Amino acid sequence: MRLKLYHYLFYISVLIAGFSCKTNTESAQKDKPIVGLITQKAMVVSAREEASKIGTDIMKKGGNAFDAMVGTAMALAVTYPYAGNLGGGGFMVYRLANGKTGALDYREKAPLAASKDMYLDDKGDPIPEKSQLGAMAVGVPGTIAGIFEVHKKFGSLPIEEILTPVVQLAKRGFVITQKQEKRFIQYKDLFFEANEDTIPILRGYKANDTLKNIQLAKTLERIIKNGAAELYNGESGQKLVDFIQSRGGIITMDDLAQYEAKWRKPIQFQYKNLTVTSMSPPSSGGICLAQIMKMIESYDLSNYGHNSLKSIQIITEAERRAYADRSFYLGDPDFVKIPVDTLISESYLSDRMLDFSFDKATLSSDINCGIIPGYESDETTHYSIADQFGNAISVTTTLNGAYGSKLYVPELGFFLNNEMDDFSTKSGVPNMFGLTGAEANAIAPEKRMLSSMTPTIVEKDGKFWMSVGTPGGATIITSVLQTILNVKEFGMTMQEAVNAPRFHHQWLPDVIIFEPKSFDNILLDSLRQKGYQINEEDAKIIGKVDGILVLPDGSLEGGADKRGDDTAVGF
Ligand code: GLY
Repeated sequence: MRLKLYHYLFYISVLIAGFSCKTNTESAQKDKPIVGLITQKAMVVSAREEASKIGTDIMKKGGNAFDAMVGTAMALAVTYPYAGNLGGGGFMVYRLANGKTGALDYREKAPLAASKDMYLDDKGDPIPEKSQLGAMAVGVPGTIAGIFEVHKKFGSLPIEEILTPVVQLAKRGFVITQKQEKRFIQYKDLFFEANEDTIPILRGYKANDTLKNIQLAKTLERIIKNGAAELYNGESGQKLVDFIQSRGGIITMDDLAQYEAKWRKPIQFQYKNLTVTSMSPPSSGGICLAQIMKMIESYDLSNYGHNSLKSIQIITEAERRAYADRSFYLGDPDFVKIPVDTLISESYLSDRMLDFSFDKATLSSDINCGIIPGYESDETTHYSIADQFGNAISVTTTLNGAYGSKLYVPELGFFLNNEMDDFSTKSGVPNMFGLTGAEANAIAPEKRMLSSMTPTIVEKDGKFWMSVGTPGGATIITSVLQTILNVKEFGMTMQEAVNAPRFHHQWLPDVIIFEPKSFDNILLDSLRQKGYQINEEDAKIIGKVDGILVLPDGSLEGGADKRGDDTAVGF
């Protein structure tokens, strides 16, 4: 799969001739490397073309990547209600043109009235529906606080100029795609269950119909006028709290007033000549990614070959060990002490791999978290942005499940998250992604629930090289990992790297999931013979990755995952 560089560069030069504002539908041709959209200066890759275009237009007007982030985030809330949101939260990792990196945490929080056992029945067993559907599942939303924090620190255009096109988009409406129509039908029963009244998505929309959201347009107009306080201390906040409480939820105005987005020090580590910067706790993304990449670094992956037996084995075994640590050590750093430096240290990680052998699978039942002295949902969305000034950002945001709690606030025009399910509702019992957790991720008032979101920026030889991330619940970390490796070790273009078939292991359950019909049967049999459990029947999509890669001539290549309606737009 190693790409011939001259071939690639020739192809790029053909593609970039005569660029203006392009989309990646113009790209790949048969029998050539599959190359995503290439532009010279700036790019947004997101789950919807309208959102990528709004972000790009902001940069064309002179705005920077952070202005574009604000516009793209809200445009996704309009056009991609599946995961784009005002009622959820997320994480942003950035790298400024001067090389400085940082991260913003606008993850949801448990309400003040939350308690450790709030999702357990009289017998002490979890009631999954309570943490997944309806008002009790909702965490205090962080998205509006997050985008205003970004704008305050780094924005260059007025909020009104950034958000007015989004208001117009909500009023004008967006065209429903085939995939969206399918999802509206798929979740119909749950929408009915969570909502007392009919909601716009239940009005029988079909592909190619236009969906307008006047209520959301009005909410955004009030936010333009009053800033984040509109939601955290104003009319929209009061409407939100009244609505949640009328549906049996526990979020109060105090919860909203006390919410704040937090700047965090990201996780940073070396992988060969790459410097990887990714999200720190309360996301597990950066630590797990660092652990896996450091555990596999000394193996000759490019020689083993992409998705070869040996590559799959070594990646799986590193994933198994990292996810075991995740379940024990990771949680909200404001509540639990996390041994970050040890967890990602070379000596700890080489010890973790001492019992690995290519001869046979390690059993997850034989793996616990490592001993450290002193220490006892594809349903998210990601976008990558690079601007004409040299700044790059990587943002992953979520409602947790598809359309979150399925609870829709009719007066405000948006869905609410069910992020409370990302807590460990009972030690050792899996959540909706099959992830188990322990005390570190137990529920407590105002605590942030552990995430797998892995917005990531990669530098090569000290220069910005890639912005990448994905939805996918527990599979986020492993999808980001494979995408980086696909380019670095297997010579793929950005588009090929996001398209390539993926697999995933998360310690428990002890099974490797493979994208169906994408892997050779002989290969899967060889893995079975070595003791690996294989599941390719009911594996859902593993990630839906969007990324931007800087090419050797300095231009940008977008990788917009073919698994969704994702689109790169730039200039
Ligand atoms: N809600 C999915 C995650 O944060 O990992």
